[in-house]
Amino acid sequence: MTDTLRQSGFTTTADGAWWRDAAVYQIYPRSFADSNGDGLGDLPGITSRVPYLKELGVDAVWLSPFYPSALADGGYDVDDYRDVDPRLGTLDDFDRMIEALDAAGLRCIVDIVPNHSSDRHVWFREALASPRGSAARDRYIFRDGLGDDGELPPADWVSTFGGPAWTPVGDGQWYHHYFALEQPDLNWDNREVRDDFLETLRFWSDRGVAGFRIDVAHGLAKDLPDILPSQAELDALPIDGSHPMWDRDEVHEIYAEWRELFNSYSPARTAVAEAWVEADRRGRYASAEGLGQAFNFDLLESDFDAAQFRSVIESNLALSEKSGSSSTWVFSNHDVVRHPTRYGLPPVDGRQVRQGAEWLLSRGREPVVDVDLGLRRARAATMLELALPGSAYLYQGEELGLPEVADIPDVDRQDPTFFRHQGTEIGRDGCRVPLPWTSAGPSFGFGTAAPHLPQPAEFGRLSVEAESGDSDSTLTMYRRALEIRSRLREGGLEWMETGNPQVLAFRRPNGWVSVTNFGDELYELPDGELLLSSSPVVGGFLPGAATAWLQG
Ligand code: BGC
Repeated sequence: MTDTLRQSGFTTTADGAWWRDAAVYQIYPRSFADSNGDGLGDLPGITSRVPYLKELGVDAVWLSPFYPSALADGGYDVDDYRDVDPRLGTLDDFDRMIEALDAAGLRCIVDIVPNHSSDRHVWFREALASPRGSAARDRYIFRDGLGDDGELPPADWVSTFGGPAWTPVGDGQWYHHYFALEQPDLNWDNREVRDDFLETLRFWSDRGVAGFRIDVAHGLAKDLPDILPSQAELDALPIDGSHPMWDRDEVHEIYAEWRELFNSYSPARTAVAEAWVEADRRGRYASAEGLGQAFNFDLLESDFDAAQFRSVIESNLALSEKSGSSSTWVFSNHDVVRHPTRYGLPPVDGRQVRQGAEWLLSRGREPVVDVDLGLRRARAATMLELALPGSAYLYQGEELGLPEVADIPDVDRQDPTFFRHQGTEIGRDGCRVPLPWTSAGPSFGFGTAAPHLPQPAEFGRLSVEAESGDSDSTLTMYRRALEIRSRLREGGLEWMETGNPQVLAFRRPNGWVSVTNFGDELYELPDGELLLSSSPVVGGFLPGAATAWLQG
């Protein structure tokens, strides 16, 4: 299929920079919509919901991995980068999904996982069947073990999901995996690895994808010395471009090659880096010579606090201007506790609870989640986000105000974080529970069978069906907000004086004003036509934990 055809429904392709201010909706395919009643979401399920995405008003979707996988890490353990998991469909289903998205004017970004393959990837199986020193082993990171027979790990490194980061293969050698042991790290010094990923990027670009989300983009280039440091020594090293594992300067040579490939397409393919690096080092990932954009998780990591929000927004707008890219804003994704729940948890050491581990700590103490406050803050934060210059990455279900699902029975849990910590960390399953489409039914319209993660009863009340007809619902707010944003999003922002440190207000060039009240007291809004608010505005006063948009 040609690019012209692929672009048929698009409105802003002219300069190929549609991504600069796009609203991108992240789909976690196994939990979005199940078309064939096996309890797992799939690609035809996504195709069937394109009208919903269109009505929601997003510009693009980003699909988390849908490749063949044993699901040791929710699909981020890829067996074959150029195929579709048969449980999720076929390549033909993928083409049909792209066609439907195209016809609706929606672009598609796919997730690329280059730091590691799965242990079922043909290369890793070949590596295990090949001797030490072989070309097959050189595609991964193998090391001789310590001790007389290599029976001890080459280093005491700990994997991010818990447990050791080196696993023995039975002949005195060990392989490195920063994540689960089913996710062996690839060796990016190996030319074959580089060429194969170029092939993968070409494969999906030729199939009509508009861009890529690059998993662990800061981890590919590694330079492990002959004598490995201990974990403590590794942790003490600065991450300034010279760290053996993270954010090495050479990683950008890889992305320069990718950029050449992206630019050989018309329109150029785009990419966004998932790079957990210092803010001032993000720019190289986001540059026009690199991937083009990088996630900024700073708002996600902030408390619901005016000063924190303002400083994050200011610094990121400045950074994106410097890199020539645009800012990216995120509150929720498949790795973190959903933001309505985060904002409803009691503070720990003066900070609101943010990440899974902290959430668990409070779970042990049986926290009372203030559901109402959490949702009001989340809606306010989202409206503020959608008024900002740059692109907004939204995660499926946030438009329904879904909470984190905390009480998943242990037997149903899937996240390796849970297993590798022997259950002491509950992991990320609570934000990956299948979407509720209808108010009733066996899986609230997700499919006909029991969903692969159980949904709580309250999902009926939070379903697309229940919220569609409700003018006060979170879904209605997202739809209206996205529609207004699509009309008014041009240009930068100018801060407005509010006379109240708990209130942030800014104006976009066309008179669009966004006011967020982070405090508890009523705040009198400035003059202007009220376009939308996250909580009711009464008599010109904005309540606490709320955002209003005005046309000034
Ligand atoms: C993804 C996670 C995944 C990890 C390993 C991350 O950054 O977002 O879901 O577990 O990479 O691939």
